Amino acid sequence: MERTFIMLKPDAVQRGLVGEVIARFEKKGLKLVGMKLIQVDRALAEAHYAEHRGKGFFEPTVNYIMSSPVVAMVWQGKNGVALARELMGATNPANANPGSIRGMYGMDISRNIIHGSDSVTSAEREIALYFKPEDLVDYQKVGDEWLSE
Ligand code: CDP
Ligand code: MG
Repeated sequence: MERTFIMLKPDAVQRGLVGEVIARFEKKGLKLVGMKLIQVDRALAEAHYAEHRGKGFFEPTVNYIMSSPVVAMVWQGKNGVALARELMGATNPANANPGSIRGMYGMDISRNIIHGSDSVTSAEREIALYFKPEDLVDYQKVGDEWLSE
C-alpha cells in the first residue's frame, strides 16, 4: 500500500470542484487517510515547489497556490502514487487525456486543478510538509475486501 499527497488547488476550491474530484478518487478505490482545508503561506508554497526554484513558472506557481485555500489530502492504495497521477492526467490540461481530472476540468497549465506526488519519495516529503503523523488515520473500510483479493 502506498500513500500519496494530493492537493486540490485554489481553482478547484473556487470553482466548486472539490466534491467531484474527491468522488473520482473514492470511486476508483483509493482510501482517504488525511484531509484538511488550509491557506498555504509563502514558506510552505516555496518548500512544496522547491525542486522548481529558478524556473520561470516558480514564482507564478507559488503565488497561485497561495491565492485561495486548498484541500490537502493523503490517499492510500495499491500503487497509489502512479494511480493518482493517472487519474490526474498530464500537467498541461490541454494535453491531458479528456477522461482525466485535468483533461476534464482544466484549460491551462497555470490553473491545473490538482497536485499529486510524482514518486514515493516525493510523497513522503510532501506528506511530511502538510501533515503530522498523528493527523493520518489508518482504518478498515467497508468494501476493502471487494477491491482486491
Ligand atoms: O504538477 P506536476 O507534477 O504535473 O507538474 P510539475 O512539472 O511538477 O510542475 C508543477 C506545477 O507548476 C504544475 O502543476 C503547474 O501548476 C505549474 N507549471 C506551470 O504553471 N507552467 C509550467 N510550464 C510548468 C508547471
Ligand atoms: Mg511535480
